Amino acid sequence: MDAHDMQDDLAQVLITEEEISRRLDEMAAQIDADHEGQQLLLVGVLKGAVYVMADLSRRLRSSIQMDWMAVSSYGSGTKSSGVVRILKDLDADLTGRHVLIVEDIIDSGLTLSWLLGNLSSRGAASVEIATLLRKPEALKVEVDVAYVGFDIPTEFVVGYGLDYAEQYRNLPFIGLLKPEVYEN
Ligand code: XMP
Ligand code: MG
Repeated sequence: MDAHDMQDDLAQVLITEEEISRRLDEMAAQIDADHEGQQLLLVGVLKGAVYVMADLSRRLRSSIQMDWMAVSSYGSGTKSSGVVRILKDLDADLTGRHVLIVEDIIDSGLTLSWLLGNLSSRGAASVEIATLLRKPEALKVEVDVAYVGFDIPTEFVVGYGLDYAEQYRNLPFIGLLKPEVYEN
């Protein structure tokens, strides 16, 4: 596809840049308050969580460390299967660490549920989750999420790290695409 104005593909802005910014302020304050005296290891899930990680982590007052993981769900299509393959593992040793997984979105919950189990089994002192978005209606498994930015309807969203066919990650807000974008 050729370069073009992303605005032309958008049906609606669901969450504005300002709303994201204000919510991240609140989430960061809560995380700081809950983890006084602990050095957190933030684990970002590539690629979608890059923007959340950058904007959430710089709001924290306490010193943290940061690491990254890339995972992929086996199975076909856009639906998560719950069987996860590690494409890029962490560099950090989790033994005794307080881990906060940073995610863009929790949909069925299958990916995060697997990740929670995997990271917990590595000897971490604690493993929690912070996600910008959550689709509550789509939750197939119970996942305890400590920090949620916004609950959104069960619709496919793009922007602020989230992609459609690797595009739209660089939109500074969360939006919905026009149906014809998917159909083409
Ligand atoms: P689970 O396992 O919770 O999967 O179903 C979450 C992962 O699915 C992707 N996902 C989306 N990506 N817009 C996107 O760009 C969406 O609306 C959306 N819903 C789910 C995403 O990779 C997430 O990590
Ligand atoms: Mg993701």
